Amino acid sequence: MANTKTVTFKDNQTGKTWDYPVMSGSVGPDVVDIRKFYADTDMFTYDPGFTSTGSCESKITFIDGDKGVLLHRGYPIEDLAENCNFEEVAYLMLNGELPNAAEKEKFERDITYHTMLHEQVHSFYSGFRRDAHPMAVMCGVAGALSAFYHDSLDITNPEHRKISSFRLIAKMPTIAAWAYKYSLGQPFIYPRNDLGYAENFLYMMFATPCEDYEVNPILAKAMDRILILHADHEQNASTSTVRLAGSSGANPFACIAAGIASLWGPAHGGANEAVLNMLKEIGTKDRIPEFVKRAKDKNDSFRLMGFGHRVYKNYDPRARIMARTCSEVLKELNIKDNPLLDIAMELERIALEDEYFIEKKLYPNVDFYSGIIFQAMGIPVTMFTALFALARTTGWIAQWNEMIEDPQQKIGRPRQLYTGQPKREFVGLKKRK
Ligand code: CMC
Repeated sequence: MANTKTVTFKDNQTGKTWDYPVMSGSVGPDVVDIRKFYADTDMFTYDPGFTSTGSCESKITFIDGDKGVLLHRGYPIEDLAENCNFEEVAYLMLNGELPNAAEKEKFERDITYHTMLHEQVHSFYSGFRRDAHPMAVMCGVAGALSAFYHDSLDITNPEHRKISSFRLIAKMPTIAAWAYKYSLGQPFIYPRNDLGYAENFLYMMFATPCEDYEVNPILAKAMDRILILHADHEQNASTSTVRLAGSSGANPFACIAAGIASLWGPAHGGANEAVLNMLKEIGTKDRIPEFVKRAKDKNDSFRLMGFGHRVYKNYDPRARIMARTCSEVLKELNIKDNPLLDIAMELERIALEDEYFIEKKLYPNVDFYSGIIFQAMGIPVTMFTALFALARTTGWIAQWNEMIEDPQQKIGRPRQLYTGQPKREFVGLKKRK
């Protein structure tokens, strides 16, 4: 909402000034409304990486990066992770309020109803190589859903949007688990309607048709909490990608496929895979100083994976819960010695005492401990980012719905500072040197 404050821009050469209104959110920094800036000044603003740019208005997630606070619809992540299951958090993301008991039951039924994939998606999988990265498979299969569910593609129809949202949240665990099964050459395991969301995912990952398989309830609870921790994180790269793709009117399945592609990168969701590879590369505690030195060297591209965040300049609150969950899982699995965990804890200790990391406010992020938990649960490294994608689908689809319903919404179309050739004369092929 607008407040009484304005910000004045001044052109130092002409002395001309322009006033812009300042808008305030419910909490967090104010924003300067520069929508008329180009029309008024004939200039663009320049902000690569959008470090100072708010791209939309949102009511879903709030982060105070300096204090290490994360709220979904106003509720602290610690409370949600402690007291809710993933389905309740998904409901909260989509609807703005936590469900009552009847609403929770109905929502869980609605999601369960959509967990199966169209049977022809089976044959779609066989087009992939067995050694395909699960994120490549997820990206392809999520995008392909738009070819299977024509009855929910009208983005102007709220009922279609609702069914597509349910379908995406419900089918993503099936898509991810089947990507894993395909890589092993094992038969796909169909979802079971008597299991909760996280439990069902673990069941589809690890059951085989040959014998009964019971999901360990402690591991199911840990997985549920991990999914909650990854559910949304306001306008990060993949969420902004989903919004940008959706701003042109693209269907939600295509938009989520775009989000998966963006999440795959090692600076974003791919970091959990990169952390584990880094810990393995470090190998022993005595080699930690060598890697910390490399991370600080401007001439070396190596970075401490799982450290640093665009928004958090304090301990990522999700990393704290993740570290606790890690201890619970290792205890349940009776893993007393975990060399990678030992290296991770020592690395964290050294980095948090190092002047470079203190000065740049680099703390462990959500990805630092998640890989160790996943590995202990028997989830292969290449599936780590796929797990992030299945959890984040809830945030993506909630943000996509919010964007479609936003009367201010326009197609996203940033401008640029052009530094290429100005207009020049064409040179025919024969005359080119
Ligand atoms: N190790 C060593 N130095 C680092 C690191 C790191 N992990 N992260 C940032 N820096 C330094 C960086 O070199 C820069 O130094 P200088 O100011 O001297 O040039 C300074 O800190 C600021 O870094 P930046 O790259 O300008 O910051 P950013 O906001 O653009 O990047 C980041 C944020 C998360 C991409 C970055 O911290 C990073 O690459 N971290 C490792 C990858 C990682 O763990 N990603 C997961 C993020 S959390 C999950 C998610 O949301 O996807």
